Amino acid sequence: MSSKNSDIKSPEGKLGVLIPGLGAVSTTFIAGSILVKKGIRLPIGSLTQMGKLRVGRGENAKEVFIKDFVPLAGLGDLEFGGWDIFEDTVYQSAKNAQVLSGDDLEEVKDEMSKIKPWKAVFNKHFVKNLDGTWIKEAPSYWDLAQMVKDDILNFKEEKKLSRLVMIWCGSTEIYQEMIPGVHDTLENFEKALKSSHPGIAPSMIYAYAAMDLGIPYANGAPNLCNDIPALWELADKKRVPMGGKDFKTGQTFMKTLLAPGLKSRMLGMRGWYSTNILGNRDGEVLDDPDSFKTKEVSKLSVLEQILQPDDYPELYRDFYHKVTINYYPPRGDNKEGWDNIDIFGWLGYPMQIKVNFLCRDSILAAPIVLDLVLFMDLAARASLSGNQEWLAFYWKSPMHAPNDHPEHDIFVQLMRLKNTLRWFMDEPPVTYLGSETYN
Ligand SMILES: NC(=O)c1ccc[n+]([C@@H]2O[C@H](COP(=O)([O-])OP(=O)(O)OC[C@H]3O[C@@H](n4cnc5c(N)ncnc54)[C@H](O)[C@@H]3O)[C@@H](O)[C@H]2O)c1
Repeated sequence: MSSKNSDIKSPEGKLGVLIPGLGAVSTTFIAGSILVKKGIRLPIGSLTQMGKLRVGRGENAKEVFIKDFVPLAGLGDLEFGGWDIFEDTVYQSAKNAQVLSGDDLEEVKDEMSKIKPWKAVFNKHFVKNLDGTWIKEAPSYWDLAQMVKDDILNFKEEKKLSRLVMIWCGSTEIYQEMIPGVHDTLENFEKALKSSHPGIAPSMIYAYAAMDLGIPYANGAPNLCNDIPALWELADKKRVPMGGKDFKTGQTFMKTLLAPGLKSRMLGMRGWYSTNILGNRDGEVLDDPDSFKTKEVSKLSVLEQILQPDDYPELYRDFYHKVTINYYPPRGDNKEGWDNIDIFGWLGYPMQIKVNFLCRDSILAAPIVLDLVLFMDLAARASLSGNQEWLAFYWKSPMHAPNDHPEHDIFVQLMRLKNTLRWFMDEPPVTYLGSETYN
């Protein structure tokens, strides 16, 4: 790869953050970004805000903040806008989500109350457990896409934005596979928009509208959405960066920490049983088997790729992987996950590992949203386009080319992300090879 540094446009002006789905994750992200900007809270969990990387060699090596190393937009430059199927302001929605304390929300009440959702593109067929009341109506899906574009362009003008990024934080839609003749080419997709084909999900309409306007798009849910050939083609044609799917938080984050470690020691695995209780609106949506199927596919893919049973048949050929999510309202956003891992060691002797993670879903997801917004904007200013594989670090189910397989090992993902940042700035990658290592 040739160097990029001189080609990166500087992050001048304001960056608009467009969010379909103003629920628990996005309101926690917005409130947190404002609290951090005001200096009231720390951006814990955000690599762009707190992470460092090593640059220089030998005696000149030093750790520098990522945000000082690459030209990122500042938190003070962000403007938030979004869509939801309910009319609540972002402040009201954050209160309903019950993630952040009343005291924290009071600090940002003025800013959050001013953000009112635009009417959503919604189809109950794709999210069975929600009944929205704040929904666009139009003769066709094509017209709905034009209405989304109007919202975006009005927002850009009103807030005097220089750039935009869209990130899907809406509910998980039902499981879908690519439909030939609808999702396969841009031409077919646009025809299907005009005939309002039932295979087109609302999330695809937002993604189409954004990328057709040249706006980067990231998909925080496991829905098929932008991972169809038609929208890969659009990203290519419009030269926009995109990525997905499904923020890597909670239990899958744990899996991508533990599984590579166990495998690195050549320990075998007979099974991994994961179950969760979750009581927020996301849990309610995932209580529908069709939406859960989308999540299940995303969660199951991780271990298969990390363990490579075909390459290590004695260790992983027959491992059994099970994931369930149970909707349990009393817990709200404070999910509890249990994992039982059956492993075996020297001579095949069995052992067990139990993990009990009492996590806060949106607290883990919010910094990921921030990082993705800032890195997608960086990618656009560096003239990168198409799927941003270097951001696989953030995804449970990283999008990948059909003839490739995704990388799930979080440590490999982090190395790749940091080396890409070094490449942006003409800094040699860290390989830990040769005499000039960074030890
Ligand atoms: N919280 C996490 O750790 C985590 C991790 C990975 C992925 N996710 C995914 O992120 C998404 C958001 O999670 P959440 O906890 O904020 O859920 P949430 O239910 O609190 O928020 C989702 C919001 O999207 C809205 N919505 C649904 N369909 C819409 C549409 N077509 N247009 C606009 N708005 C729409 C809902 O009304 C709701 O307000 C979910 O898909 C979830 O699966 C969350």
